[in-house]
Amino acid sequence: MKLGVVILSVRSPRKADSVSAWVLDRLNTRALDDVEWTTLDLADYDLPALRRYGQSGEADAPADLVRWRDDVDRCDGFLFITPEYNRAMPGYAKNAYDLLDAPWMNKPVAFVSYGGVGGARAVDAWRVSIQPYNQPSIGHQVLLYNRFDFEGDTLNPTDRHTQTLDKVVDELVRVAAR
Ligand SMILES: Cc1cc2nc3c(=O)[nH]c(=O)nc-3n(C[C@H](O)[C@H](O)[C@H](O)COP(=O)(O)O)c2cc1C
Repeated sequence: MKLGVVILSVRSPRKADSVSAWVLDRLNTRALDDVEWTTLDLADYDLPALRRYGQSGEADAPADLVRWRDDVDRCDGFLFITPEYNRAMPGYAKNAYDLLDAPWMNKPVAFVSYGGVGGARAVDAWRVSIQPYNQPSIGHQVLLYNRFDFEGDTLNPTDRHTQTLDKVVDELVRVAAR
């Protein structure tokens, strides 16, 4: 199966770089059987605002939107790495989500979040927003606290974080395989 690690901050500098490096390093180390990971970094896509591009296709859709659609479409599930902005997910990330429909359908989502309270409110917002496409969300989540788990933008992961990440990933793989 193919699973996408989706990086949902487009800022520079950003904590997302350190968080995603830790996640990808752990995924590479574990090298789970039959799981291929691909990284979808929103900063690599120049997406328009609020224009839907579903499976039906639009001849004049911008190239980056087509690439975003195809990259999401190829995945069987997702690990969202999300910051919290104004007590929800980043607006840019919600727009990127809203641009697609069928490519998300029925595919599970797990979360690694960060913020003042671990990004918990961003994940709550995501759990609501992914319902229309029947996307199951994984109950466990990795919560990283700006004040305790980072030095500046650099994450200082502990064994406890790694254990939780493993549990979240195992659940994602299990649900995606169903
Ligand atoms: C526009 C904006 C709004 C923010 N609002 C929140 C918030 O509501 N709750 C929170 O915990 N952190 C908030 N933060 C702080 C972020 O947790 C922190 O800036 C983090 O580094 C953002 O992740 P990034 O560097 O990967 O973009 C906000 C940051 C920005 C830029």
